[in-house]
Amino acid sequence: MAVAVIKGLCKTYRIAGREIKALADINLQLEKDRIISIVGKSGSGKTTLLRVLMGLEPKSCGEIEFGSKNAKIGTVFQEPRLMPWLTVEENMALGFQDCLSLTFRQEQLSHYLQLLGLADFRKAYPHQISGGMAQRTALGRALCYDPDIILMDEPLSALDAFTRRKLQQDLVNILLDKAKSVLFVTHDIEEAIYLGSKVIVMDQGRKIREFLVPFSYPRNRADAAFYGLRNEIMQLLELIN
Ligand SMILES: Nc1ncnc2c1ncn2[C@@H]1O[C@H](COP(=O)(O)OP(=O)(O)O)[C@@H](O)[C@H]1O
Ligand SMILES: [Mg+2]
Repeated sequence: MAVAVIKGLCKTYRIAGREIKALADINLQLEKDRIISIVGKSGSGKTTLLRVLMGLEPKSCGEIEFGSKNAKIGTVFQEPRLMPWLTVEENMALGFQDCLSLTFRQEQLSHYLQLLGLADFRKAYPHQISGGMAQRTALGRALCYDPDIILMDEPLSALDAFTRRKLQQDLVNILLDKAKSVLFVTHDIEEAIYLGSKVIVMDQGRKIREFLVPFSYPRNRADAAFYGLRNEIMQLLELIN
């Protein structure tokens, strides 16, 4: 079932009389239980696409149709954007909607703290935790919101390689377990293949190719087919550079 259908989406910025086509004719379908990765060099329109989907920027043309009228969208950015005066669990709890009962919130919070490996740090403040934990907290806040769609803009880019790999693994487990529909922006091709059921390559505001990732989870980066797909996408990106 489609959670969102994007048809002919475009976004044009005007700066001092000059037109910048940040997005042009984007067609895309988001599905429950699917992670779609987007790769592309800097300035190719990835963040603009997420901002338009979030409703932070008006679109210039095209359609965005959500599967349900009240589709909820969660976000995770490159920086965790936590409130420094709140603890890990208080930051996560910001995601809850007001209508939820206190008991339900407490149950959910404990569940997510456990799931994200943050239970021992629930009372810690952002300055007392590592970058990886801060990003887990940001993910926890997004999950507490219980969104239908999670938009992620290079959420692991600021982390060291080991932490990043661990979080990639955890993300696959958590996101698929929770049956979320995810749009995951990254400039790391390996990460895109590791996570996505599809990898979309963007250039100059356009979707130039879509690769299906035929491997089952959890994926093995050392696998020859994984490596082959990585090279194919890499070559395409080098070609347009
Ligand atoms: N608020 C804005 N005003 C004008 N131009 C913008 C704005 N935001 C993005 N752009 C332009 O749109 C293009 C796509 O940017 P962006 O979506 O941030 O790319 P990416 O996330 O792939 O690096 C770039 O040329 C950028 O300069
Ligand atoms: Mg960006």
